[in-house]
Amino acid sequence: MVGEEGKEAVKQYIADLRKKIHYHNYRYYVLNEPEISDAEYDRLFKELEKFESKYPELVTPDSPTQRVGAKPLEAFGTYKHSIPLLSLNSVYEEEEVRDFDERVRKFLGEAGGAAAIEYVVEPKIDGLAMELIYKNGVLSVGSTRGDGETGEEITQNLRTIKTIPLRIFSDAASASGVPLPLLEVRGEVFIPVRKFKDLNTALGEKGEKMFANPRNAAAGSVRQLDPRVTASRPLDFFAYGVGRAEGKEFSTQWEVLAYLRRIGFKISPLIRRFDTIQDVIRYHEEVKEKRDELDYEIDGIVVKVNSIKQQERLGAISRSPRWAIAYKFPAREEFTRVEDIVVQVGRTGALTPVAVLEPVPIGGATIHRATLHNEDELRRKDVRIGDTVVVKRAGDVIPEVVSVIKSKRTGTEKEFKMPDRCPVCGAEVIKEGPIRRCIGVSCEAQLKERIKHFASLRALDIEGLGEKVVEQLVDRKMVSDAADLFFLTKSDLLRLDRMGGKSAQNILDALEKSKKTTLSRLIHALGIRHVGDHTASLLADKFRDLESLRNASYDDLVSIPEIGPEVARSILLFFEQESTKELLAKLERAGVSYEKKEAGAGLLVAEAERKPLEGKTFVFTGRISMPREVAKDIVERLGGKVASSVSKRTDYVVAGEEAGSKLDTAVRLGVKIIDEEMFLRLTRKQKIN
Ligand code: IVH
Repeated sequence: MVGEEGKEAVKQYIADLRKKIHYHNYRYYVLNEPEISDAEYDRLFKELEKFESKYPELVTPDSPTQRVGAKPLEAFGTYKHSIPLLSLNSVYEEEEVRDFDERVRKFLGEAGGAAAIEYVVEPKIDGLAMELIYKNGVLSVGSTRGDGETGEEITQNLRTIKTIPLRIFSDAASASGVPLPLLEVRGEVFIPVRKFKDLNTALGEKGEKMFANPRNAAAGSVRQLDPRVTASRPLDFFAYGVGRAEGKEFSTQWEVLAYLRRIGFKISPLIRRFDTIQDVIRYHEEVKEKRDELDYEIDGIVVKVNSIKQQERLGAISRSPRWAIAYKFPAREEFTRVEDIVVQVGRTGALTPVAVLEPVPIGGATIHRATLHNEDELRRKDVRIGDTVVVKRAGDVIPEVVSVIKSKRTGTEKEFKMPDRCPVCGAEVIKEGPIRRCIGVSCEAQLKERIKHFASLRALDIEGLGEKVVEQLVDRKMVSDAADLFFLTKSDLLRLDRMGGKSAQNILDALEKSKKTTLSRLIHALGIRHVGDHTASLLADKFRDLESLRNASYDDLVSIPEIGPEVARSILLFFEQESTKELLAKLERAGVSYEKKEAGAGLLVAEAERKPLEGKTFVFTGRISMPREVAKDIVERLGGKVASSVSKRTDYVVAGEEAGSKLDTAVRLGVKIIDEEMFLRLTRKQKIN
């Protein structure tokens, strides 16, 4: 038993421990810059747990051990917000944003100084709005936005989110300072994209219901009656505003954000301050370009008048402030109807169910087909022929069917069953996890894909050998493997539909040119399962010639740090095949050769050494046929840089279809504008004028 004095000392010791843990939590979760090892953190945490179990009367709700303490609820209570959480008017067009700016200026009166308006721009996080109430620095109530007036009280769930501080200090970086007696913090709860995917995989493996998107996952997780379930979900929180703040006056939104950051909240790194609406519009474009690289979903930007005084003068009309607006990105999801479900056979025989859609425009392109990924996904989403579905197109990824609108079913929809035999060659189909695979050795669908891959940009880069040509060559049995391409004659090619003498000659020239290649391109072109261009260049670096690679043992292969057992086995299996031996012999006969290089000189290095685009900056705008990452990679391999916005320092703007405001800027600044074809020519010839 400890005496009163001893008890005080214990209390102090526990308080110090908590402070340390709060501080290290902040370093780890909010700043992403831990100062101590995980082991050291665990030690502190265990020490606190030990003392708290010895002195349960000293446990406080803001203790870091109390994130997941509460028992499951029967139902959530309601919570009335003291100041309503407003919603935002949305706009999509540049014109509408200019109108907003004009309205703001007019309302504030030109006399008030038209120049004196500043805007703060924040990303519009696609999550759920929450309010957190801190009394004397301790999180006491957390609630959802609800209808803006009244939400649900979900305090015990919000407590489980690591980026929501249980206790705030006036300075989180030193875990010190007296907090405000009352502070209401507003922000968005969300689930990061990558973690959402992991969560869905895990749920699927357990046979539980998966979520359609990160927002639904966040909504479903934060409204769990059992806080232990919420705690197991990868929820995160960005703060963007305050409600009541007793004892503190803010003069700008920018100040609010800086304050929230200082007291320990995570603030989006994408926030900016601008003087003109033109800059806001440009930034909208920039963020839109970055959208796919972010690890959280955003559906636009929020533009807010910075000055709180001006905000107050502007006020609100029916729940939406006049001082802020959501400037959304074009929608990525649309509704359409599934006309049919077909099966595509890939290069490695994988069978992919694909929905044939009633054509629908999404984000500037017309979508005709969308992937259903595999059998498990098809079954999970329960997509039937005739269904109305939500289709999503995100950046350069293949469009996918997100979900079915079941309420639109009429009963005439037809279920689809994956075939037991390859729809193209009739060979047997085996199941590997969720994937069905055709094991036919002479499957024409696989052959077409293999040849397309062989000729593709990052493999042998055979210009002019497009999809239509490859399909005819295979259908007419003019080739039975990729090496046969090199034995085609002009009269062979002239037999194809819509093939003139000039195109035929171009293809022959391209084939001839492609025979001189590099080892890593050649390895990549072979289409060994699990060997993409990166692994190919690792193999080329290690083995230097095809012969050594062919003779490599399992141990030789796995001695390369990035090559694991599965990839090694796949390489061994590939070289054991009779068809591979034939293919390689034919390639040799055709005269395919690669530069023999010293170790370490793969394709990447060889091209980088020449760096013909050194010092050149490219900006892409609009739609081009290759994925942006590929275009970017081409530029970077040749030593150039890709920027997201046009400036005087930009050397080339590559404009695709429906190029946006960047094209206007390029015209205005006199930057050289080229199309995709010129871009490819430029990078192929690697000559800059
Ligand atoms: S401010 C008066 N800022 O958008 C301003 N909202 O329609 C009210 N949201 O319910 C909100 N990111 O869920 C604001 N940086 C941000 C936001 C943001 C996402 C959401 C929030 C709100 C909705 C408004």
